[in-house]
Amino acid sequence: MDKLLIFGGRPLKGAITISGAKNAVLPIMAAALLSSGIHFLKRVPRLRDVFTMAELLKRMGAEIEIKNNICSINTRKISKFEASYDLVKTMRASILVLGPLVARFGKAKVSLPGGCAIGARPVNLHIVGLEKMGATIILEEGYIVAKANRLKGTKIYFDIPTVTGTENIMMAATLAKGLTIIENAAKEPEIVDLANYLISMGAKIKGAGTSIIEIEGVSELIPPDSYEVIPDRIEAGTFMAIAGATGGDILIKGCKTNLLDAVILKMKDAGVVFKETPEGLRVIGPKRPNAVDIKTMPYPGFPTDMQAQFMAMMAIANGTSVIKETIFENRFMHVAELRRFGADISVEGNTATVKGVKKLKGAPVMATDLRASASLVIAALIAEGKTIVDRIYHLDRGYEELDKKLISLGAKIERIK
Ligand code: EPU
Repeated sequence: MDKLLIFGGRPLKGAITISGAKNAVLPIMAAALLSSGIHFLKRVPRLRDVFTMAELLKRMGAEIEIKNNICSINTRKISKFEASYDLVKTMRASILVLGPLVARFGKAKVSLPGGCAIGARPVNLHIVGLEKMGATIILEEGYIVAKANRLKGTKIYFDIPTVTGTENIMMAATLAKGLTIIENAAKEPEIVDLANYLISMGAKIKGAGTSIIEIEGVSELIPPDSYEVIPDRIEAGTFMAIAGATGGDILIKGCKTNLLDAVILKMKDAGVVFKETPEGLRVIGPKRPNAVDIKTMPYPGFPTDMQAQFMAMMAIANGTSVIKETIFENRFMHVAELRRFGADISVEGNTATVKGVKKLKGAPVMATDLRASASLVIAALIAEGKTIVDRIYHLDRGYEELDKKLISLGAKIERIK
């Protein structure tokens, strides 16, 4: 298992370009199942999760090539409608094939994702939504087995705005008979990107990015000539936290800054300076950040996927910051590891209280999930001395060449195989 050896304590300076968004490309790849033909996707990040999704589709009969961040998916010979446990257990986003398979082929067998490091993460809302559209679903030996004739449009209300749930139902509804209305839909930008891809295939969707999405089903979808995935706002936010935490000066190229308003405003409160330039967004960290409180919320609120990275920055802030996690019930796994650097953090329920300390010291630590791993890397970059981050396969799931990008900014990092 690869590890990262990091010598911290230096401000990071330079320019990096943001890669394609993991949480946009995964549903878009799954959406290729909705239409027979060749799908060309651009700005596809080379991530472990992207390769897992590719493997999942290959096992169904798709032919896939990923070269230079361009991915082609040929879905003309899909003949298996199953997502097996061995893949789903490594990537929960595999559930995204459920809606497309049922909508186009009338059948699907998808392993039920189990809990994960950050919470129980049930998929009941995906299942109930598809049942409302006329699918018959049973749970059998750990698998969701779904069958349907043509799905029927209906009104669906989500008790919780679920991101992949909204995506699954939106994809399924594109080929359903009649109008589907999703109420209390999630509003994340990745849902808008998926909707744009579906629309480019001929789907009729209104309201993506708002809490009410209307989808008028069509009988067939046709792949566009090509489609470019949006840049990864969480990767951009992570580099903002790196600049903010190390007193760095980083030019972030290719990110859509309007998708990061909540993060940028909180960073500004912490003393981080942002300058729009023709080449990108320049992010300049303060000598020492101010303590700022955050509460994670569905988009456009402060993203849960940035909570751990922000906490690493708050570990050395001037003052005490209160961090509330409202999306996932167990997303504080990084706290115990951050304490190993000397951070002063206590947790009660869904609230972490971070008393900023002047310095962190390098330590051996272990990554537990993707964003927790990013927070440990940030802490290691702040800390004096040597850190070894173990189990960095989590990082490789969601950050394209993070170590190389950091090295280009002057970080002292080595990947130990
Ligand atoms: N929920 C239910 N029932 C459901 C679905 C969700 O109770 O059927 C609950 C969840 O347990 C959670 C809340 O609803 O408490 C929101 O979860 P959501 O379904 O929105 O999360 P997700 O779709 O599984 C996506 C991202 C996550 C990101 C969350 C929240 C993808 C592939 N994953 O997950 O990304 O944290 O939305 O924004 O889009 C990451 O990239 O590190 C990551 C974990």
